[in-house]
Amino acid sequence: MPDTEFLSPDAAGLGRAATILRQGGLVAFPTETVYGLGADARNDHSVARIFEAKQRPGFNPLIVHLPDLAAAREIACFDDTALRLAESFWPGALTMVLPLRQDAGIAPLVTAGQRSIALRVPDHALAQALLHQTGCPIAAPSANPSGRISPTSAAHVASGLSGRIEAILDGGSCPVGLESTIVATAPGPTLLRPGGLPVEAIEACLGAPLARPAAPETPSAPGQMSSHYAPRARLRLNATKRRKDELLLGFGALTADLNLSPTGDLTQAAANLFGYLHALDAQGAPIAVAPIPETGLGRAINDRLRRAAAPRP
Ligand code: TXA
Ligand code: MG
Repeated sequence: MPDTEFLSPDAAGLGRAATILRQGGLVAFPTETVYGLGADARNDHSVARIFEAKQRPGFNPLIVHLPDLAAAREIACFDDTALRLAESFWPGALTMVLPLRQDAGIAPLVTAGQRSIALRVPDHALAQALLHQTGCPIAAPSANPSGRISPTSAAHVASGLSGRIEAILDGGSCPVGLESTIVATAPGPTLLRPGGLPVEAIEACLGAPLARPAAPETPSAPGQMSSHYAPRARLRLNATKRRKDELLLGFGALTADLNLSPTGDLTQAAANLFGYLHALDAQGAPIAVAPIPETGLGRAINDRLRRAAAPRP
């Protein structure tokens, strides 16, 4: 494997990224949520290399990224609910799990052999340009080694995957900073993962609450494993004071080593979350995290923090 190329966010960088993807290589690219590790979703060998690069368990299916709803409809079947959600929230931080069209030409490894597929239309100029130039559906999990914190900058990607992938398209930091919200539409609209699109917005669009999977630790979305997104350091949640030797990750009016949002703004906190976890983790001390309200993006932030704090297998 050659050294990982750093590509600039211009025509030359995009052209190179598209060429590498079309030739079957792996390119990490920015989206509004987190960086994705992209491969041509129709190419079995390329998709297999994603699992190898991330050292990800083979059973965990991948999200396929598309430029627009029309392209997504060639891959999966949309019912009325799915159409309404797509029209309201795409492009954006919503992933939908939908019935796969059998003639879609997607590598079976993408769906881990399931009949459903997770699709998303990202709202990021570089991701959109890359999808248009490459002209193929791009399978992309978050661009981090399996089980580690998701990357929200090109430097995060490099620290985890350098030397394991062909290139990183550098688009600066990700504006949302949390992975997409995942909803399955059949048999009824169900929340599989809270994320960058608040659950309240989806429920307002549908005029009904989203169902939650019966047993969240053993669902069809294996990314729901409890110890996911783990930093190396131990994490203590709902901390109001720093204990000896701890680093404090704050929220709201609080003196802390790093503060997710001194003004208590959940959108700002989401955008800072993974970057600050990476930064504190690099210092090697246990991390205490201040309480975060369980509303809007706070749900997704708390979900990630609970997984980061869970006992490791
Ligand atoms: O914001 C995001 O969603 C980012 C960017 C790159 O798009 N991607 C991301 O991918 O977070 P990943 O692989 O780290 O998480 C995808 C989740 C996993 O928990 C996986 O199990 C679930 O989506 N998933 C994928 N396909 C599925 C399917 N067919 N049925 C159920 N769950 C699925
Ligand atoms: Mg991930």
